[in-house]
Amino acid sequence: MALTSFFRDRETLDLIGEHLAPRVRSQQGVRIWDAGCASGEEPYTLAILFAEWMDPGAFGTLRIDATDHEESDFPQFARSIAEGVFSTTDTMWVPRPFFEKYFEATDAPDRHRLVAALRERIVFHKNDLRALSPVDSCYDLVVCKNVLLHVPDAERGGVAMMFARSLLLGGYAAFEATQPMPEDAAPYFEKIGERGGLFRKVTELP
Ligand SMILES: C[S@@+](CC[C@H](N)C(=O)[O-])C[C@H]1O[C@@H](n2cnc3c(N)ncnc32)[C@H](O)[C@@H]1O
Repeated sequence: MALTSFFRDRETLDLIGEHLAPRVRSQQGVRIWDAGCASGEEPYTLAILFAEWMDPGAFGTLRIDATDHEESDFPQFARSIAEGVFSTTDTMWVPRPFFEKYFEATDAPDRHRLVAALRERIVFHKNDLRALSPVDSCYDLVVCKNVLLHVPDAERGGVAMMFARSLLLGGYAAFEATQPMPEDAAPYFEKIGERGGLFRKVTELP
């Protein structure tokens, strides 16, 4: 199983909050692509944060496309994400107030389920980033944390260009803090802040 956790890369998540929370509060149909979502902790972290930042009516129209390519773990990925059930250990990084607000008990004492209002916002798709075939377009935010390092160096520019094409002008791309914007896509983005891995698309592609 891939290494992941709830609320990973706090610096980047904080930057996303700083820049997107005011803009999306009442926006209908916000779209997020979480590319390389592993077993679901990351898209559910995004769902929790956007539920906090958005008016309920707007949050009900949010869609998170959560994608991964992991063939061997596919049934596990699909089940985790659809069911939204995680162990006590899995949820240890969820801040307590969010745990109490967004998780409900199951029949097993050490298993906890995300509430339906969050589960309904996430759609899981199998997608290999190296195929350069996005599941959709016009995203407000693409999150691809701790994934590009698994893509061969020579292909990272192509993947970042796919993100640039898939984002709305003014939309954001988020990486882990140590991942620079690959050179091919750099002209289309500006980096936000010194720390964290957030970029804003500033130029439309031809
Ligand atoms: C270290 S995990 C990161 C998970 C999550 N993004 C996070 O930061 O916690 C890397 C994930 O990237 C996925 N991945 C690697 N190469 C990929 C590719 N070519 N297409 C789609 N997903 C890929 C792996 O299957 C794995 O789930």
